[in-house]
Amino acid sequence: MNLSGKVIWITGASSGIGEAITYALAKENCKLVISSRRLDELNRVRNNIEIADENILVLPIDLEQHQNSDEWTQKVMAKFNRLDILINNGGISQESFALETTSEVEQKIMNINYFGNVALAKSVAKIMQQQKSGKIVVVTSIIGKFGLPRLSTYAASKHALYGFYDSFRLEVQKDNIKILLVCPGFINTNVTLNAVTGDGGRFNKNSPAQENGMKTDVLAKKFVSALKANKNHKYIGNKELLSIPFKIFLPNIFYNIMLKMSNKKK
Ligand SMILES: NC(=O)c1ccc[n+]([C@@H]2O[C@H](COP(=O)([O-])OP(=O)(O)OC[C@H]3O[C@@H](n4cnc5c(N)ncnc54)[C@H](OP(=O)(O)O)[C@@H]3O)[C@@H](O)[C@H]2O)c1
Repeated sequence: MNLSGKVIWITGASSGIGEAITYALAKENCKLVISSRRLDELNRVRNNIEIADENILVLPIDLEQHQNSDEWTQKVMAKFNRLDILINNGGISQESFALETTSEVEQKIMNINYFGNVALAKSVAKIMQQQKSGKIVVVTSIIGKFGLPRLSTYAASKHALYGFYDSFRLEVQKDNIKILLVCPGFINTNVTLNAVTGDGGRFNKNSPAQENGMKTDVLAKKFVSALKANKNHKYIGNKELLSIPFKIFLPNIFYNIMLKMSNKKK
């Protein structure tokens, strides 16, 4: 797929993975819509790109307010009159044990990572149905394949994305809408720093997994290659990805090792 001239909407574009993908797609001469909550950070990203104003829309959105998805989509249509690709990347992580997490925090994580993601996809899919073409790319996570302590609701939200999109892909194929699920391992971003705590605060510390993770520019190159290819799924990361086949083929050994490792960390 040639990306030049395609209208691509990236959520979570103000930092980390989404920011790096935005820069990589700008080099491919795409028309861009960049979204997240913080307008100042979106403007910083916009100013780092050489792109004519007519080819970019800075569109602040809060995925928690996903009842506004159709309104946001209409703003994209008003600017470009079509939408080729949605990159559903915006999300929030968690740093709290399940028993110490309020249901408000659980709902917040699910609202952003699952309901917001799905509401936006449904909204753009209606436009793509009329166009008879489109691609929806969803950034899931290695934590959508297994769980870790202090990440129970985050893991639930990312597992849920697999359930929804594996079904949705089959429903929208008749309209020539493609679904690509991208599953990152550990990537060097502020995702843990920005994670929500059990009482709704910000965690404010980074983790060794993130600090030692793949650099975002390396991820962005692999991401763009997957986007150009007609793939349904792509893993991007380092050796941590080996845990996924390990769990599938040797689940009892996998769970015992995870239990021992988690016990050591207590
Ligand atoms: N880093 C990793 O190791 C890793 C691994 C697997 C999957 N992921 C996934 O990758 C995606 C991007 O994360 P990242 O690592 O790049 O972390 P990040 O730097 O913290 O980026 C998260 C992005 O999501 C946006 N966002 C957060 N809450 C939002 C909301 N309510 N509405 C709209 N946008 C919101 C943030 O922007 P604002 O604050 O401006 O809203 C930011 O642009 C997430 O879905 C994450 O789960 C990350």
